Parts: sequence; C-alpha cells; structure tokens
Amino acid sequence: MSFIQQHILEIIYLIGSVTFVLGLKMLSKPNTARRGNLIAAFGMTIAVVGTILFHKQDGEPIGNLAWIFGGIAVGTIIGTLMAKRVKMTAMPQMVSFFNGMGGACAALISMVEFDHYLALHGGASLMNGEILTMLAGLLIGSVSFSGSMIAYGKLEGKINDFIFPMQHIVNLLVFAATVGVGVWIMVAGVEASWPIYVMFAIALFYGVLFVMPIGGADMPVVISLLNSFTGIAAAFGGFLYNNPVMLTGGILVGSAGTILTILMCNAMNRSLTNVLIGAFSAKGGAGGGDTGDKTYREATATDVAIMCSYAQQVVIVPGYGLAVAQAQHTVHELEKVLTDKGVEVKYAVHPVAGRMPGHMNVLLAEADVPYDKLYEMEEINPSFPQTDVVLVIGANDVVNPAAENDPNSPIYGMPILKVTEAKQTIVLKRSMRVGYAGIDNELFYMPKTQMFFGDAKDSLQKLLEEVKAV
Ligand code: TAP
Repeated sequence: MSFIQQHILEIIYLIGSVTFVLGLKMLSKPNTARRGNLIAAFGMTIAVVGTILFHKQDGEPIGNLAWIFGGIAVGTIIGTLMAKRVKMTAMPQMVSFFNGMGGACAALISMVEFDHYLALHGGASLMNGEILTMLAGLLIGSVSFSGSMIAYGKLEGKINDFIFPMQHIVNLLVFAATVGVGVWIMVAGVEASWPIYVMFAIALFYGVLFVMPIGGADMPVVISLLNSFTGIAAAFGGFLYNNPVMLTGGILVGSAGTILTILMCNAMNRSLTNVLIGAFSAKGGAGGGDTGDKTYREATATDVAIMCSYAQQVVIVPGYGLAVAQAQHTVHELEKVLTDKGVEVKYAVHPVAGRMPGHMNVLLAEADVPYDKLYEMEEINPSFPQTDVVLVIGANDVVNPAAENDPNSPIYGMPILKVTEAKQTIVLKRSMRVGYAGIDNELFYMPKTQMFFGDAKDSLQKLLEEVKAV
C-alpha cells in the first residue's frame, strides 16, 4: 500500500512540476496569464494535498494535521481577503508581502531541520551538504523575508529611505558576519541550536540594511531580486527534503526572478549595482521644468481632437502619468470612439513604462482594452513612420530620443519607442517637468511635437468630448 502511495505521490509531483512550467509560460502573455496562474495554483494544491496524504517520514504518515489544516485555513482567509481588497496600484507591495512569507517559510524550515538534525546526530560533524543547504536556505530566506517586509513598508509609504555614511561598508560587514556565523557552525560543530538563531537574527538585520537605502522607484527591481532569493531558498528546501516539486518550483521562481531583474535593468539601461546603490548618488525625479531658451508648441483639446479624428492611424503611448491619473478607462473610451470613426488605434507598450513590470498591461487590462490592440516596442516601432498621430500620455523617458542620440545621457542605450518618426506627436502631461530619469526630453521641443498640458484624465476627458463633437 505504502509502495503504491509513494508512486501516486511521485506522479502528483510530476504533474505539479509540469503545471508550474506551463503556468509560467502562460503568464508571459496577457491573454493566457489568468489561466496560467490558475493552472500553476492547481499544481501547487495537488502537491500540498498529495504530500499531506501520502508522504511518509521514517515510515510514518505526516502528523500535526490540526496545525497544518489550521495554518492552511488562516492563510487562505487572509490571502483571499488581501487579494480581493488590493487596488491594482498596490500590487507591487502585495507581491512583496507574499514574497516575504515565502522567504520566512524557507528560513523556518532550515531552523526546524537544524534542530531535527542535532537531535538525530548531535553536533560532532556538521561539515556536510545537508547542513550547508540548511544554512544557505536560512541566510537567503531570512534576507528575503526582512528585505521584502521593508520593501512593503516603503511602498505603502510607512517607511522612509534611510541612508547613513559608510553604509556600504556597514552592509558588507553585517553580511560577512552572517556568513561567518554559518562557517563557524559548520567548522566548530556546535551542539546547541542557539548559533543558528544568532545567524537568523543577523541575516534579518542584513535584509533590512540591504533594502533601506534603495529609492522608491527602484523598488520593483529589488522586489524582483528578492523574489528570486525566495525561489532559491525554496529550492534549497527542495534539496533538503529531496522533494522534486519544491525543487522545481524554487528553481523556476529563482530563475524567473533573476531573468526579470536583468531584463528590467537592461530596459532601464542601468546595472544592478547602480540600482542597488543608486540612492547614494541620488538623482532628481520631480524637479526640472527649466526649458532654458528652447521653445515648444502647445495644442488645445480641439486641435488634438481634429488631428485624431481625421487620422488613419493613432498610436497611444501610455506611461507612468496615465497610471497616476487613473486615466485608463477614459483612454479606452477615446480609443473606442476613434475606432467607431474608422481610425485604427493601437497602444505601444514599453517594457519599463510605469513603475512595475507589466504596469501598463495590467492597467489597460483593468479597463478592458482588447489585448490585440496592445503592441510591444519591437512590434510597433517599425510602424511609426506610417502613424499620423501619436498620443504620448504621461510618458516621458520611454520616448526620450536622448537614449539614442546623446552618449552622455544617463539613459543612453535604453531602447525607446521611436515616436519621433511619426507624422505628429502630442504629449499629454501637466508641465515640462522631467520623468523618473530626471532628464529633459528633446522630443517636447521638436517641430512635429505639441504639448497638451493638464492632468492626463482631465485632458483625455476634454479630448473625448471634442472628438465626439467633431
Ligand atoms: P516617466 O519618465 O517617469 O514620466 C512620467 C511623466 O508623467 C512625468 O514626466 C510627469 O510629467 C507625467 N505625469 C505625472 N503625473 C501625471 C498626471 N497626473 N497627468 C499627466 N501626466 C503626469 O514615465 P515613463 O515614460 O512611463 O517611464 C518610466 C520610467 O520609470 C523609466 O525611466 C523607467 O526606467 C523607470 N522605472 C520603470 C520600472 C518598471 S519595471 N516599469 C521600474 C522602475 C523604474 P508632469 O509632472 O509634467 O506631469
């Protein structure tokens, strides 16, 4: 019987692993993402239930069922309530919070297993792979937990950036102390549990120090990095328990998080080091607006409405300002009215538009914009020369030609949406102020560009009324 149960469990783990891979693949496209999430969640559910029902520890079934089901019930209630209540704009902090829980689990597993190991073997020889796996899981999981909690607090506006002199050195020393305790545990062969609690405490402190100085808008990159840490810590748990589904899940999260971190840095044309220590050379972000003697042209809602109504193709470039103004529904209304007039309307989505991965996709999906109208940068760039009007709505850096033309620009090398190739560009923003990168944008002063000032939602509302009247 136990033999059959073991085989059933292996098949369940195999199905679970396949659903994780499939789910992750489906998450890469907006129209399959929801189903991908459900498929992976199904895989996780059968893996958890299968383990509870069929796993045997030293020939015995799993005990503590009341605690396990109690924990599942509490977690399910809290998770469901949080997911139902969260606003789209607060998604990064929720991801960070849940990620922190994963890191905490990995760290707790390491501590429990260390105790268990000491009870079985004593501390004479701790120089082995099993202990190394526990300590690595503890270190990475703890940093991920405390770092994610700080990231959560910062994004919620409850914790401010905290920078002090020689912070890098202090951070390095604390990190070295954490690793040092781990090395000591292995080499000295401790017989009590307290050293691992010391290591846990220092690792938690390091996680706090690690995230504290990082600036608000760099948080998505850090969250993605911490997410990869949690995946790696979970993979160590998979090694520890010889559990293939935990290992697969951990590796997938770890590698996906790492790839996403690299992609975000590349798309911002910044190195990870620059993001992590960027706060020490902090640049502006809200200032600017000094146009010197450069001139720009202003357009009214009526001008823009006429241009759009008689265009064959209009491309909308959404940016951070669209999200701040919560103008996604209004822009969708405008797109529908223009489409009814026979204008072809497309959305050009830059990979780092906004402040989190997929920000614009999520925002536009919330307003029910059809997926087939969303074009990625590589797809849309060749069609700008045939575009009559581009509406740049609350975007700035992602359309800044300095990324291509000015080798001294901090964003030089970042791929951009080539809106300068279109016949007309209208920029909707409130002022001439800079965007996230803190730099002026030549696009605003070009002869084919006109500025339409105002809050994105108000401007789009006015434009919508005018377009209806044309
Ligand atoms: P930004 O370059 O940040 O520009 C946004 C513009 O929106 C600002 O210039 C601002 O100008 C305008 N704005 C703000 N509130 C507005 C409102 N209520 N109505 C109308 N306009 C408003 O945005 P972007 O082009 O989307 O670029 C994103 C930037 O964030 C990039 O530099 C990227 O590297 C960075 N970043 C992205 C991510 C991810 S993963 N997406 C993560 C971290 C950093 P006014 O003040 O004049 O209105």
